[in-house]
Amino acid sequence: MISIHLFVSKQNLLKLCCCFILAVAIQISSNAFSAERESAKTLIIHYSRSGKTKLISETLANNISADILEIKDSKDRSGLWGFIISGLDAFRHVHTPIAPEKLDLTPYSVVIIATPIWSWNVSTPIHTLFERNRFDGKKLILLTTANIHIMKYEQFGEEAPFIKRYLKDYLRDKRKAAVSEVIRAGGDFIGHYHFETQAKTDDQLIDQTLQCIEYVKEKLS
Ligand SMILES: Cc1cc2nc3c(=O)[nH]c(=O)nc-3n(C[C@H](O)[C@H](O)[C@H](O)COP(=O)(O)O)c2cc1C
Repeated sequence: MISIHLFVSKQNLLKLCCCFILAVAIQISSNAFSAERESAKTLIIHYSRSGKTKLISETLANNISADILEIKDSKDRSGLWGFIISGLDAFRHVHTPIAPEKLDLTPYSVVIIATPIWSWNVSTPIHTLFERNRFDGKKLILLTTANIHIMKYEQFGEEAPFIKRYLKDYLRDKRKAAVSEVIRAGGDFIGHYHFETQAKTDDQLIDQTLQCIEYVKEKLS
């Protein structure tokens, strides 16, 4: 009787040890995971002329607990004249005075850069940002906003009319050029998400941003 009791106790002791080891292992791995999350600090850098990219960036930052930084451009880009010079600046790939110009990205391991599309290029202030800064060692995600979707013509195959095939190739090349600009600035480019903003209400842009959050989370997982 006593020997049976001892046997049961030994078994229980063994189970207890296993539970303890398992609990310690779970604790260690969850600490490592949260340390990793802690170090994966994210910064969203954005430029916005008319507020859409700003709204998207702020919604995203609130939902993924990221820091946010707005790039300001000292050139007056308001009104029709501002629209025209902005379109020309982007077309000609010129630069513009921005603030801040040089960024301290030391605390961040993930940087999301959000920009409107101008003349099918990244906006001039973000073009300058890429030229003046290096993103080596950071994971980079590019967010672009434009009137139409950059993949709008992707559905068209060889049988489609010439103009649609032409536009498909044109937008593909423009997308590649924008991504190349990110890659040239260093860092590890991990994704591009595009927002179609024409005639969208703020609520619709926010809804679209909620889908983007899933995309960003998937890219970072
Ligand atoms: C100068 C300029 C050029 C633009 N060029 C394009 C373009 O080539 N294709 C497009 O679909 N939208 C174009 N747009 C529309 C903007 O990309 C779009 O409205 C964007 O979401 C505006 O973002 P914001 O409100 O943050 O400035 C242009 C807008 C401006 C001001």
